[in-house]
Amino acid sequence: MNIIFLGPPGAGKGTQAQIVCANLGIPQISTGDMLRSAIAHQTETGLKAKSYMDAGQLVPDAVVIAIVKERLTDVDCKNGYVLDGFPRTVEQAQALAVFAGIDKVVNIAVQDEVLVKRLSGRRVCPACGATYHVALLSGETKCAADGTTLIQRDDDKPETVLNRLNVYHRQTAPLIDFYQRKGILCVVDGSQGLEHVTTAILDTLGATR
Ligand code: AP5
Repeated sequence: MNIIFLGPPGAGKGTQAQIVCANLGIPQISTGDMLRSAIAHQTETGLKAKSYMDAGQLVPDAVVIAIVKERLTDVDCKNGYVLDGFPRTVEQAQALAVFAGIDKVVNIAVQDEVLVKRLSGRRVCPACGATYHVALLSGETKCAADGTTLIQRDDDKPETVLNRLNVYHRQTAPLIDFYQRKGILCVVDGSQGLEHVTTAILDTLGATR
């Protein structure tokens, strides 16, 4: 099954994609992760993307469409995938429709006040990408999986978070309508606890734990 996880920054797309992909045995394709890796490796794509990401703006459509189009040709995508963070504009969705068939779009809905708290408290492992929240870390500063010191993403600083939310409402939220009109959108309440959100997503996909 080819699935899109739609939702504002901090909705839990990455967290849920990791769990759901492990459950369904399909890859998680996160444009945010791919772009951060490109920046870390100082590739041409990374150099193009960095200033946009630092400012909380979207990276130009052409750059993101090209990396997703190439990634979907990999052999691990042939039985399905979860797109996490793509598409993010109507232009990206229209381009995607030309090179991929999408079966379901899961919109993970969360109110802005909750998102601000989640993003400002998020800590990530720079080595394995695991995501944590300070409220649940009890002062722990290392990754439970590999012991690496956790960091705060540059774009999780308060001023950039607000910018990302504005960008979401302006440029990405119209996709809710776009996919609703195609009859493949389902909505999950992402403000519930982690496990409840996972169950709701798996239910909506017709999968079981
Ligand atoms: P990206 O990395 O995709 O960031 P994002 O969409 O802003 O999403 P986040 O990773 O911030 O949030 P998430 O929904 O994955 O939440 P998470 O699971 O981590 O993109 C970064 C940048 O790259 C963009 O700003 C843009 O510049 C660029 N970019 C990427 N894709 C692009 C595209 N297609 N086009 C153009 N530019 C693009 O959870 C957040 C926190 O909440 C964590 O601490 C987590 O532990 C916690 N949490 C999660 N679920 C729950 C829950 N149910 N209850 C309590 N806490 C929870």
